[in-house]
Amino acid sequence: MTILVTGGAGFIGANFVLDWLAACDEPVINLDKLTYAGNPETLASLQGDARHQWVQGDIGDAALVSRLLVEHRPRAVVNFAAESHVDRSIHGPGEFIETNIVGTFNLLESVRGYWQALPKGEMDPRVCGDDKALTQTAFRFLHVSTDEVYGSLAKGDPAFAETHRYEPNSPYSASKAASDHLVRAWHHTYGLPVLTTNCSNNYGPYHFPEKLIPLMIVNALAGKPLPVYGDGMQIRDWLYVKDHCSAIRRVLEAGRLGEVYNVGGWNEKPNIEIVQTICKLLDEMRPKADGSYASQITYVTDRPGHDRRYAIDARKLEAELGWKPAETFESGIRKTVEWYLANPEWVAHVQSGAYREWVQKQYSAS
Ligand SMILES: NC(=O)c1ccc[n+]([C@@H]2O[C@H](COP(=O)([O-])OP(=O)(O)OC[C@H]3O[C@@H](n4cnc5c(N)ncnc54)[C@H](O)[C@@H]3O)[C@@H](O)[C@H]2O)c1
Repeated sequence: MTILVTGGAGFIGANFVLDWLAACDEPVINLDKLTYAGNPETLASLQGDARHQWVQGDIGDAALVSRLLVEHRPRAVVNFAAESHVDRSIHGPGEFIETNIVGTFNLLESVRGYWQALPKGEMDPRVCGDDKALTQTAFRFLHVSTDEVYGSLAKGDPAFAETHRYEPNSPYSASKAASDHLVRAWHHTYGLPVLTTNCSNNYGPYHFPEKLIPLMIVNALAGKPLPVYGDGMQIRDWLYVKDHCSAIRRVLEAGRLGEVYNVGGWNEKPNIEIVQTICKLLDEMRPKADGSYASQITYVTDRPGHDRRYAIDARKLEAELGWKPAETFESGIRKTVEWYLANPEWVAHVQSGAYREWVQKQYSAS
């Protein structure tokens, strides 16, 4: 058995592939367009590993996706591929519509064609390493989405449950919301065996340093300002990336068809607190001569339409599937800061653009 992962060179997708192959030998076909956010260096440890196969390509390329599906006969598709940065979606929403909506539509159509051609039957090879024959019943399409589709909460509002109405506020969240609706419709209309996860903000190793936590660590170490939007009191709910990966594995294994599972670790924090925590950890682990890193904090004009608060109610996933995060925010953020201190080369290659050269070298021959 094999799984097809899309967007597996990005932050969460790459962590997922590494975790997957650490946990079992089931091969992964990794389809990634390798946009600026795709960094194959993250998976350098898998070079030469026959269980992992790169394919550079677009989820919207129906001919390519259909060929991969027929050739590799995956038992599941896990869709991480997306444009994911809110600020970029404000400055240029077109790519977000193209990949997150049109791309997901094309992917769903390719997958539907493949799935409909599978034999009907009851065999269930969903457990990692199971080698029973693949059937329509056993196949899964897991769509990875975000809590941002639910919009913004006021102070005191209950956290987002799966039944919360969709109220996306940015081009990013609107495009993800549209993709969630398509996935839902492909289940209800065509019977495609789908699962959707809506997760809160992730953090951890291999996070592209344009997002809050890695940006703060990297800027702090470089002696640069730590830019905090507005009053810094925007609240996000944080989950260590490996806990997100374990939730996806669990939903893939045991989730009920057509269901949505919210994923979160009950870790609501205002952005300014996150930045202060990072400064404190750096003060401890890499003290600087001239005082605290907190002196680099600089407040900047807020992002337009900036959502005030996100919070995830993960009780369905916990109660139904028995999932629990392994990390607290305190342990996860400590591991994250340690990882960035231990991996300056990965950061330097992202910042210099050297990781793009790796991509070009890798694919220039093919
Ligand atoms: N980062 C978070 O905090 C978070 C939280 C909840 C949900 N999500 C969702 O999880 C998924 C992964 O997020 P991430 O943070 O790893 O994103 P990312 O931007 O780090 O990675 C996205 C990956 O998708 C690839 N990609 C982009 N367009 C593609 C296309 N058309 N075809 C194939 N590949 C394409 C990119 O090259 C990149 O490798 C996204 O769907 C995102 O909406 C992210």
